[in-house]
Amino acid sequence: MSAGTPLLSVRDLTARIATHHEIVEAVRGVSFDVAPGEAVGFVGESGCGKSVTARAIMRLAAEGTDVRLDGKILFKGRDLLTLSDREMGKMRGRQIAMVFQDPMTSLNPVMTVGAQIDDVLRRHTDLYGRAVRARSIELLDAVGVPDPARRADDHPHQFSGGQRQRILIAIAIACDPDLLIADEPTTALDVTVQAQILRLLMRLREERGMSLLLITHDFGVVAGMVEKVNVMYRGEIVETGDVDTLLSKPQHEYTKSLLAAVPRIRVAGAIS
Ligand SMILES: Nc1ncnc2c1ncn2[C@@H]1O[C@H](COP(=O)(O)OP(=O)(O)O)[C@@H](O)[C@H]1O
Ligand SMILES: [Mg+2]
Repeated sequence: MSAGTPLLSVRDLTARIATHHEIVEAVRGVSFDVAPGEAVGFVGESGCGKSVTARAIMRLAAEGTDVRLDGKILFKGRDLLTLSDREMGKMRGRQIAMVFQDPMTSLNPVMTVGAQIDDVLRRHTDLYGRAVRARSIELLDAVGVPDPARRADDHPHQFSGGQRQRILIAIAIACDPDLLIADEPTTALDVTVQAQILRLLMRLREERGMSLLLITHDFGVVAGMVEKVNVMYRGEIVETGDVDTLLSKPQHEYTKSLLAAVPRIRVAGAIS
């Protein structure tokens, strides 16, 4: 990749979802870039197409949905939409990883969290034997789970919501992805824990030089977290800009109404 090449370049992405009686165009003509190491926000109200866009990049469809993707999703110059399922499987986790909104449904309730991270490491890395658990413990430590060696043997229900989200982040970064997609990673959490998780994401991104795609319905979440924001409305990007400009001088009526709905923007100073 030459200097200045985006890590991710999405061009004219359209996602059509087939339901029993119709085809819904959930995402229409979406184009955006993410530079190496850059944090980009996606903001828009519920149902506007944020998760469909995020899953498209992973080439995942929500369970039981039939999604057809058109356009280009260039990752390091390769169009992900042209990869075989096997090649795409290798991309997931190793190069692109995703943190989902609900930490309880994304973890396996009957496996210890250590075993769940071990699994990912065995599947996607060359580690084996004791090195696997040692790395899992390191990862739990890196995401701020106290006493990680002991807690690795606990099950998801033995952790708080915030701790579970930390564990999911540990799983997502286990293979050192270049791009982390966080889809409403803090929506299920209370405000204090939300700020802690956002700080964690910010720190990991800096330490690891990852790019971050942060998806949220709440402008307060992207303020102070990302450099660039794309505002989505009814399946399309209606406004793009650097976060400060967008917050101070929104152009699009929809962006203005979204901003007006945020009771108080938690700016960089307040969450860091
Ligand atoms: N399983 C589904 N079946 C039919 N339509 C769906 C399905 N999932 C999503 N959609 C459509 O895609 C749109 C965008 O959904 P989504 O990306 O999940 O929104 P959000 O911005 O809240 O993440 C929805 O408004 C809906 O029209
Ligand atoms: Mg969503």
